[in-house]
Amino acid sequence: MPAGDLFTVTAVRGGTKPEAGESRSKQKEYQLVQVKNTWCRIECGQEMPTLWEEDQVIVSQAKIGEQVTESGVSWTVKAPIYFCYKVIETQHLLNPTNMTLLYGHVSDPQELDDYNKKTQKRFIVMDATVEQLYGSKVRKYFEAHDVVYKILTVETTEETKSMDLVLHILEEVHKFGLDRRTEPIIAIGGGVCLDSVGLAASLYRRRTPYIRVPTTLLSYVDASVGAKNGVNFCNCKNKLGTYTPPIATLLDRSFIQTIPRRHISNGLGEILKMALMKHKGLFELLEKNGKYLLDTKFQSRNGLACHGDAALTTTRLAIQTMLEELAPNLWEDDLDRLVDYGHVISPELEMKVLPSLMHGEAVNIDMAFMTYVSHEIGLITLEEKIRTVQCMRNLELPVWHRDCSFQLIKKALAERFKHSGGKLRLPLPTGLGIAEIFNDVREEIIKSAFASWQEELGEFST
Ligand SMILES: NC(=O)c1ccc[n+]([C@@H]2O[C@H](COP(=O)([O-])OP(=O)(O)OC[C@H]3O[C@@H](n4cnc5c(N)ncnc54)[C@H](O)[C@@H]3O)[C@@H](O)[C@H]2O)c1
Repeated sequence: MPAGDLFTVTAVRGGTKPEAGESRSKQKEYQLVQVKNTWCRIECGQEMPTLWEEDQVIVSQAKIGEQVTESGVSWTVKAPIYFCYKVIETQHLLNPTNMTLLYGHVSDPQELDDYNKKTQKRFIVMDATVEQLYGSKVRKYFEAHDVVYKILTVETTEETKSMDLVLHILEEVHKFGLDRRTEPIIAIGGGVCLDSVGLAASLYRRRTPYIRVPTTLLSYVDASVGAKNGVNFCNCKNKLGTYTPPIATLLDRSFIQTIPRRHISNGLGEILKMALMKHKGLFELLEKNGKYLLDTKFQSRNGLACHGDAALTTTRLAIQTMLEELAPNLWEDDLDRLVDYGHVISPELEMKVLPSLMHGEAVNIDMAFMTYVSHEIGLITLEEKIRTVQCMRNLELPVWHRDCSFQLIKKALAERFKHSGGKLRLPLPTGLGIAEIFNDVREEIIKSAFASWQEELGEFST
């Protein structure tokens, strides 16, 4: 993996727990050292043999534990998995003078030299609408650099987000042929395209590098910056997937100018999530500039100093806050995640009413309801509740849905409890831009929050 600019994440999986009756066992831990292509183990704390030249020795971060008991030996492997990926803002990504699309993922100058010595090959998967809008520019880009390429155009909707789509991508990748180290698959599209290609890449030869180019606001600030990918399965949202980050995410806001206004609101839903959970300044930016951001589709406009560069600041803060929460918990080992706000009830709702709600819209309905839960518990004031709902409305996001019944909410919460280690783990705002995880929200609270939510924001509210 190349070294990245923005952050690297390491993690250790596995561990040992002494079994009952093993008090008389012998336990040792070994580090692993490579000398002349062979790995060998050295007990931790022991000196390296002096005949080994220091510069010929590679010491791994992996360790092997060995426990000898009367019944036999058990080994424990602790292997840190190191991931490094870049999230890069750029402009004019498809202009042939911009080398980011071709080499943005490469940091090491030596590696770049190696790349330049041979003809480049790229397999590109594009969302069908995006292909119509930007396909000719993508072709021109790769032709200008004499790249051998194939563009696979796919219909990516929530209904086609499935293993069938992943297998179709994989068949085409296989026919095309790729050097799995140096020829990353490139996904250009919204969250559905990026998630499906990410899963395909994580499966092809167990892990083939891939690059994400998000073209919707939601995928720009959310679906493209973390490690997760996935597809829907058995009518359940993102049930199949892996935690495999791309080698790079390339961010060019100009793609966003062609998405419909409703899709801007959809993306604003995920930005608002980060604002409500951890950044009051971001919330205030959205309160103040929401309409402007919708009208200008997140394109920077020179000469409108009164808004500063709201589009740039908003997207940067959304990504920065998201990365802060994701990077230390890339594999979601810790289930207490603030970024799950809006994602407790919304998966059930989104799948139930498919295709009538977009992802960010379903997330916002969930957040609107949880705002009422927070207020019912007394975590936020009435003024904070009103400001939150008003901000959602200004961003043209739905705050209520008739199919979000009390039964659906109860079912979604029960699912959450079951799949979260017997805890509710509800992220809830405790103010504007501040939040905590709660495990002890009682059913009466949910019931009375639901009643107020219906009354104030529901179909027959005034
Ligand atoms: N992996 C993650 O961490 C993560 C996070 C959030 C959301 N997601 C997933 O992302 C998906 C939602 O993503 P989305 O909102 O981008 O939806 P999407 O991918 O369905 O795209 C929405 C629509 O916009 C069109 N489109 C895309 N780019 C365009 C452009 N530049 N101009 C015009 N039209 C364009 C597409 O053709 C599509 O019809 C969901 O499936 C959700 O589960 C994943």
